[in-house]
Amino acid sequence: MVGLSWPSESELDGIRKVVAQMSGRGTEEVRVAVSPYRICPLGAHIDHQGGIVSAMTINKGIILGFVPSGHPQVILRSGQFKGEVRFRVDEVQHPRNTVKPNDNVHVNGSSKSQEECSWGNYARGALYALQSRGNQITQGIMGFISGSEGLDSSGLSSSAAVGVAYLLALESANSLMVSPTENIEYDRLVENEYLGLRNGILDQSAILLSRHSCLTIMNCKTKEHKLIHPPKLQKNHNIEEPKAYKILLAFSGLKHALTNNPGYNQRVAECQEAARVLLHASEKGDMEPFLSNAVEPAAYKAHKGKLEPNLARRAEHYFSENMRVIKGLEAWASGRLEEFGELISASGLSSIKNYECGSEPLIQLYEILLRAPGVYGARFSGAGFRGCCIAFVDAECAAEAASFVMEEYRKVQPKLASQINPDKAVLICEAADCARVI
Ligand code: GLA
Repeated sequence: MVGLSWPSESELDGIRKVVAQMSGRGTEEVRVAVSPYRICPLGAHIDHQGGIVSAMTINKGIILGFVPSGHPQVILRSGQFKGEVRFRVDEVQHPRNTVKPNDNVHVNGSSKSQEECSWGNYARGALYALQSRGNQITQGIMGFISGSEGLDSSGLSSSAAVGVAYLLALESANSLMVSPTENIEYDRLVENEYLGLRNGILDQSAILLSRHSCLTIMNCKTKEHKLIHPPKLQKNHNIEEPKAYKILLAFSGLKHALTNNPGYNQRVAECQEAARVLLHASEKGDMEPFLSNAVEPAAYKAHKGKLEPNLARRAEHYFSENMRVIKGLEAWASGRLEEFGELISASGLSSIKNYECGSEPLIQLYEILLRAPGVYGARFSGAGFRGCCIAFVDAECAAEAASFVMEEYRKVQPKLASQINPDKAVLICEAADCARVI
């Protein structure tokens, strides 16, 4: 794990001390589940339809310090939310179905106080997932969870990072050997069954499979994945690294879903309706209504006229986004960052025009990023209802691009911009590794 800047030794020491104090154990007994946030440069909104997605993790995320409690009790505290969560691992957990309408807002696009009462849902959801697949969980944990400051509910998949952290901690405390593939499925149970969000497996796949400096490609239908390394370029007999890049996160200041927002689950339902129409037209009406089952691109072309205009736009996003991922992985593998970036920006545009999931501040940020110096490409992170935009930028221009974006965003959204800590308005990040327990 070369060149990993997160979590720092001082963050790890800090959390070990908190857990040692909370549990009365020594700091050397404290284990830490590290679960990074993810970005999805290409392949937005198509995981739930069995599409092909690309992902990476960044050097920010969730850390969960814990010790096995020695009995069935779970006791958790949080660096972000008040109160203490307590439950027993021998209590059988049942789905809550707190449907989250937009992206992965923690609970129901809710007020902070609701979130404070329900932050323990992800830990209960992790227990639910493990129990419902027959795992023997007898030992609880005492733990303290903390997210990189100000980055929760930002479209960086904080919910999946939290879910994965609890899964890893419960598994470690109960000496269970669980593969990343199984944990992808367990986290799917947390989100789809326990919480009722109909999302795909992009987030947890990115968190569990990514490797430093690689692009992770995941086929969400077959569940096959591969890691694409950037090339080593040959110049005058010397091996050269490809051009250095950084990842910019530009925050909108919008933390919660807009109330009149159509919502994540609604878009999923529209994609499925489009799939139904296309499957019916291609005499495959008995197949499950996912766009990946629907049609080959040629049949899509033949039947797309049968779709209502809004459903046609959702299908257009799905089919064009799959193509962009395929082109994007070739560009990445050959070190063509400019082309990779152009595909990211085209993906962003399709999210706005075809998937129609943006919000005004996010669209403004996207447009500003496209004008910033050294930016290869940009798009919303996550569903784009709130949170941040991501961009790939030439490492040498990253600082200049960050100042440019901050200035320009302040001009178009002075009120929202004033609510963001200026030190956190635009972050310059790097690619990271997968989730693990240390
Ligand atoms: C959210 C969901 C993911 C994915 C993205 C959009 O993060 O949790 O499953 O659909 O939005 O690409």
